[in-house]
Amino acid sequence: MATDEHGLDVVRTWLSDRCGMSFPDHKRDLLRQRLARVLRSFALRDMNSLAQQLKSGNNQDVQLAIMSAASINHTFFFRETEVMEKFIAQAEGALATRNEIRIWSAACSSGDEAYTLAIMLAERFGPSILKRLNILGTDISGPVVERAELGVFHSRQLSSLPPALRTKYFTPTGISQFRISQQIRSCCTFRRMNLTATPYPFNNEFFGVMCRNILYYFDHKDQVQTVNAIYQKVERGGYLMTSVTESVRNLGTKFTPIDASLYQKVVT
Ligand SMILES: C[S@@+](CC[C@H](N)C(=O)[O-])C[C@H]1O[C@@H](n2cnc3c(N)ncnc32)[C@H](O)[C@@H]1O
Repeated sequence: MATDEHGLDVVRTWLSDRCGMSFPDHKRDLLRQRLARVLRSFALRDMNSLAQQLKSGNNQDVQLAIMSAASINHTFFFRETEVMEKFIAQAEGALATRNEIRIWSAACSSGDEAYTLAIMLAERFGPSILKRLNILGTDISGPVVERAELGVFHSRQLSSLPPALRTKYFTPTGISQFRISQQIRSCCTFRRMNLTATPYPFNNEFFGVMCRNILYYFDHKDQVQTVNAIYQKVERGGYLMTSVTESVRNLGTKFTPIDASLYQKVVT
């Protein structure tokens, strides 16, 4: 049994280092439950065998299954805001002056990422920017899209949000529940969509796309296909934001890297 505990710790550390997913001691049993189906699907005896697979480093199917089981819809407000800050700094002139700012949060989960960018833009440029801002969030999961549309969040999803912004942009509504303000809500729309079904059905291109904490669920072929399909829907001079842990440089993308997690569609 001790070796099984050690195996669980190896997986736990890997999830933290690779995906930024934290499973503190009081969530050990939750993680164990989620990983049980990974053990079953790969016919592995125990957590130690799973850890061995992980450490061998060449079993991408096992890695994807662990990530998927551990955190299917994991998201929260103000996650990896350094990426959005870089985008805002890089695109500042255009963001300040454009008539319409179209942003796509691909794989948006419950909408935290879309709403976070709206809040950050309102803070940087003032609330009038919200009239020019149009953020679309899409996700394959219907229930999370419904939650995004509802705009009501548990306090744990807001724990990275500075308290002053929580007061400014949220209203308490029930026990540990907070409703996002109507001015932020009104510039965001959500719909169900599978990112692996390409080409994407958008008539208009986007100035910015956030594709974060999703590509590692895909195999290499789908990653390449997804990033190429996104490229087709980004306007000339527009941007792609990725997670800090997901580089798209090895995917042969046509995007020009600006930073580790910010890319631009530069067409000469
Ligand atoms: C870990 S969450 C990331 C949420 C957000 N982008 C963030 O970084 O906080 C991954 C989301 O991807 C969605 N997803 C998984 N496969 C997908 C697919 N093929 N197409 C669209 N969304 C997908 C899941 O439903 C989940 O909500």
